[in-house]
Amino acid sequence: MTETVMKNEAKEKIARWGNTVKQDPYYPAYHIAPPVGLLNDPNGFIHWNGTYHLFYQWMPFHTGHGAKFWAHVTSGNLVDWKFHGPALAPDRWYDRSGCYSGSAVEKDGELILFYTGNVKNGEGERESYQCKVRSPDGVTFEKLGVSIELPKGFTPHFRDPKVWKTGHSWYMVIGAQTEDKEGCVVLYDSPDLESWQYKGILASGLGYMWECPDFFRLEGDVLLFSPQGLEEQGMDYRNMYQSGYIIGDFEDGFRTEDFRELDHGFEFYAPQTMEDDAGRRIIIGWMGMPDGGEEYFPTHDYHWIHQMTLPRELSQKGDTIVQKPLVEMEELRMRKVVEESQEKWEGKIPASSEILLQDIDGDVDIELFRYISLRCSKGKAILTRPAMDGSGEEWRATVLDSPLTEMRLFVDHSSIEIFINGGETVFSSRIFPEKEETSGIINGDLSLTVWELRRQTGGKTV
Ligand code: FRU
Repeated sequence: MTETVMKNEAKEKIARWGNTVKQDPYYPAYHIAPPVGLLNDPNGFIHWNGTYHLFYQWMPFHTGHGAKFWAHVTSGNLVDWKFHGPALAPDRWYDRSGCYSGSAVEKDGELILFYTGNVKNGEGERESYQCKVRSPDGVTFEKLGVSIELPKGFTPHFRDPKVWKTGHSWYMVIGAQTEDKEGCVVLYDSPDLESWQYKGILASGLGYMWECPDFFRLEGDVLLFSPQGLEEQGMDYRNMYQSGYIIGDFEDGFRTEDFRELDHGFEFYAPQTMEDDAGRRIIIGWMGMPDGGEEYFPTHDYHWIHQMTLPRELSQKGDTIVQKPLVEMEELRMRKVVEESQEKWEGKIPASSEILLQDIDGDVDIELFRYISLRCSKGKAILTRPAMDGSGEEWRATVLDSPLTEMRLFVDHSSIEIFINGGETVFSSRIFPEKEETSGIINGDLSLTVWELRRQTGGKTV
């Protein structure tokens, strides 16, 4: 099938089901979500020619995984996102089972994308190719073929190229699995984005496969990746797969003992970062989990599944990467609905809202929509919700880096993001309360402000 035919089929799915999707009371007001079908990893995040571009892994035809497209959204302010339809479709011999994750850079004024061409043959065997795309205008995308083939020593679980430039050199990290079934990140460099030299393994050792690597500098050099196969250890690694970072040194290396999870909620995976024109390092993640009980998500009935997190600004504080909601998020505040200082507050919380807790002294207990609760006590935060598979409750928890003083929660119909102490500790989770449920209970010595947040106005242009 040609690329045009495939893209048209994707657009037909939107024409057919798009209105149903938007009618779902669980559909977000201000988070990026698919117009139909399944969304997973953020791809090609870049600030290019004054516009923020984000692509994402997209299965337009059903609410499961499969031969992925890249969908494309743009924004002028990181709040309102315009949907532009499919940018890449899996139409070539080297990507026919999916245009898998990748990244974007700018070269000579053009937008250049790198992604993994995934090919599965009838026997379930896999091939993977790192592929290149150019776009002179951000509207048309021309595939330029395969840039890198699988090197010796690795299984075909070799994917998700992230490219950046330092000085006159281009670099690429790729998530990989060695033939000994060890997860790792592989490094390449290039003088021109044309020819690529294999430089070796940058880091390895945790679990059996590392997906979606990223590299950037804060105060130290940061390697971000999503390892698979880590054993649960007390409060750590309780999700099916993890996403986290190692702060190390590009020359001297990254020690796996220094790996830390980035987010402590139930749904957070495969994040990607970019530096914007203001010099901010901004991250966005998939608020989902691969192979993580997708059948229990009630949004299937409305023909969509999964969404992004909010974009967040990164900084480093000691060994911790701090994630702060962007200042732009204040533009979402539509009206203040609560402003109180009392030990126990009970009232209505809008389905699309920001909840700010300040001047906290002591423990805090929050229960929202009779569905999710957050308890912060004795230097620990514990998030509890009904188990997605219906078997009792499930929880995620972590130790706080510093005494609890401030908390900001973003609620958007079926998701919640909790930023504790200015983003030192973050929890991202999907929530599926009864659709009309609006109750909130907040206990603690604190001052409380709640805003109702507006819908993002990006609109749809397919
Ligand atoms: C991570 C991932 C990537 C892959 C993509 C396929 O969620 O498995 O490694 O490129 O999703 O959709």
